[in-house]
Amino acid sequence: MTKTTSQPLPDHLWRPMTQHQALRGSVPNRMVSAKGCFITDQNGNRFLDAIAGLWCVNIGYGREEVADVARQQMIDLNYLAPIMSSGPVVDLAEKLQKMLGFDCHVYFSCSGSEANETAFKIARQYHLQAGNGGERRYKIISRYRAYHGNTMGAMAATGQAERKIGYEPGPAGFIHVMPPYPYRAHPKLTAEEHAEECARLLEETIIHEGAETVAAFIMEPMISGGGVIVPPDNYIRLVREICDRHGVLLIFDEVVSGFGRLGTMFGYEHWKTEADIYTFAKGLASGYIPVAATVVKEHIFEKFEGNPSDMQHFRQINTFGGHPVASAVALRAIQVVEDENLPENANKVGTYMMQQLQQTLADHPYAGEIRGKGMIMGIELVEDRETKVPLADDKIMAIVGDCVRNGVILGRNSNTIPGRCNVLLIAPPLILSAEEADQIVATVTAAMQKVTK
Ligand SMILES: Cc1ncc(COP(=O)(O)O)c(C=O)c1O
Repeated sequence: MTKTTSQPLPDHLWRPMTQHQALRGSVPNRMVSAKGCFITDQNGNRFLDAIAGLWCVNIGYGREEVADVARQQMIDLNYLAPIMSSGPVVDLAEKLQKMLGFDCHVYFSCSGSEANETAFKIARQYHLQAGNGGERRYKIISRYRAYHGNTMGAMAATGQAERKIGYEPGPAGFIHVMPPYPYRAHPKLTAEEHAEECARLLEETIIHEGAETVAAFIMEPMISGGGVIVPPDNYIRLVREICDRHGVLLIFDEVVSGFGRLGTMFGYEHWKTEADIYTFAKGLASGYIPVAATVVKEHIFEKFEGNPSDMQHFRQINTFGGHPVASAVALRAIQVVEDENLPENANKVGTYMMQQLQQTLADHPYAGEIRGKGMIMGIELVEDRETKVPLADDKIMAIVGDCVRNGVILGRNSNTIPGRCNVLLIAPPLILSAEEADQIVATVTAAMQKVTK
């Protein structure tokens, strides 16, 4: 039946990233429960969640041991103003310090966007107080394609034009550079040479802006929502060297890559390079509760000490930051990640799934590149493997829709780069079994075969 605007909307919920026109005259499916890697709707249909919510349900759905902790903490101490200290929040900060292995302090908030906003403010205040150029060091450099959140600063750092239409101008001082993108690099360059060139252009950007005006460079170790783009091995080390040369702080946005997603506990471990500030959210409590963290190395934290009247302390508070229930739940979720060695499973089953996809789609004309790390992979869809022209939108929608109809939910880099929203995203819970991986591969492959020219 054709929908018309005279038909009523189904309810009063304003859904994110949704054109509600399409919902007129329909009744959206309600999801009612979930266990492991599967979500069940009101009619009893089961869906394998191959995107782990928003790649956050790392330990899988329906863990009673996590729910038990939340219940008990709500009874013991359901809330505490964050200027006071609850047991769970102190323990969680301690736990993160131990896991990261360097001296640090942890500021808690409730979302990845807030964690990044916090990082930007800390970076600016740090330079002011470290005597590193003072208020002039305010600029934040980030990369095209990267997503860093939806609040004004995090959106400004995001390098995805479609996420900004209608919401700009944003705050001043946010600058973008190209990330290494081997699939679309100049054909005469090796991946490493291409990465060197991207790093060189980052340095040129810093110099041209005036290094004394640049506060920080933020990057995900591996771009996720922007299309799963794996950096060549030399890139992050070069970035670190450039930041050090120019007194620029390096921020790793580990909102997606933290807590096992890339097959290591933290994403940056792959590239053996450390940042000055780290942000975490999604996997921190595996989607059981909102919680986020901004972790700063001690040399940064030290610059915030002084007399209260000096205004050297961090003058930000989040009502729900460091929430005792969220902290207790995060601690329990992390314990599951550790006890079940989920980074290793992410690596093992993720590698297996990517190999299977590469085999079954080896000759598919639309499969431009299949790439990723651990339990996160992207399939870049193109009309033609030679020209690499992105696949038409309706065909991508057909593939995603067919997968859902056949019981597998996956993602896509939608509303990101104009004309470049052509990457299918697969990032299931880290507990995925080989059989479940086979189901994803079979469903995606069948959906792709149906749309072949
Ligand atoms: C890399 C990255 N950083 C930050 C965010 C923002 O997190 P949130 O949606 O919790 O604000 C996201 C969300 O998808 C993300 O993928």
